[in-house]
Amino acid sequence: MGTQHNVLITGAGGEIGHGLIRRLAEEGSFNIVTLDLKGLNPELAALCTASHTGDVLDAGLIAQIFSDHKIDGLFHLAAMLSSSGERNPERAFDVNVGGTMNLLKSAGEQARLIGQHVKFIFPSTIAVYGLPDPETKQRANKVKEDEYLFPITMYGVNKLSCEHLGRYYAHHYGALSEKKSQWSVDFRALRFPGLISAHTVPSGGTSDYVPEMLHAAAAGQPYACFARSDTRIPFMTMPDAVESILRLFFASREVLTTTVYNVGAFAPSAAEVEALLKESFSGVEISYEVNESRQSFLDTWPADVDDTAARNDWGHNPRHGFREAFADYLIPALSGAHAD
Ligand code: SER
Repeated sequence: MGTQHNVLITGAGGEIGHGLIRRLAEEGSFNIVTLDLKGLNPELAALCTASHTGDVLDAGLIAQIFSDHKIDGLFHLAAMLSSSGERNPERAFDVNVGGTMNLLKSAGEQARLIGQHVKFIFPSTIAVYGLPDPETKQRANKVKEDEYLFPITMYGVNKLSCEHLGRYYAHHYGALSEKKSQWSVDFRALRFPGLISAHTVPSGGTSDYVPEMLHAAAAGQPYACFARSDTRIPFMTMPDAVESILRLFFASREVLTTTVYNVGAFAPSAAEVEALLKESFSGVEISYEVNESRQSFLDTWPADVDDTAARNDWGHNPRHGFREAFADYLIPALSGAHAD
């Protein structure tokens, strides 16, 4: 067997955590340690070396976990998403930025202690972008990593700040220290689009209208969509998101040209999703009851992302385009899930 990794997953009980734990367990070379505010479900916990219940704001607990489990890699998934963050912005700042700071600090200390870089995988988001108006959004279409970085949600502001904090801890921490260590946090961020899982439903996000529409259609329930039918942002399936996390984790440092990568797959409008669902399920009932505030977030998020760097540097290559996502993954899994 190759190198064993002792990795910590924060926010492990969330949507990405579900897919990631299973995938890392399959891989076989990971001792998985988790942290979540709530107890992990037993089926997932059985795949892990240890599952801790606690808060990413608890610096003492984080330090203890790093030391007890000799952590040498991290998937920091815990966060408050864009809609829940906007309902309590100060709490979102504490969790999203304060939690990340605790983990960056512990990861840096661990790197110096064990004499090797500690990989820190950070899911960022299309919410870091802030397109100023619909014309610009349409004209820009696929945005690059360094364009339009003027987020209007607390979540977007937090994630953009954490991208910079990660870059700082990776490359600049300890600049004035007499004995600057050669070992540091090996920070790698992916800016995810909206994610769609066949097995879990999101909560607290603003891209939630597509997964909600899908899961309602599969369950034969009507759905009132909070976004306009012409809303267009990028999406990706959960298996492709998890695969991209793994590829970035395993990529060698030499091939990485930046600390932050866009990753995309497909970018349908809400109406295009509705049409596809109507091809796949009978009796789909979707209405549009627009929530103007949530719509205003979506209007500032890009129509699509330019992910050339991720494709060139470490082989980002999602299996699912728009039609494949539904035909090969979502519809078959959901037809089974709601069959009884
Ligand atoms: N899915 C996230 C949200 O809607 C975007 O990263 O908040």
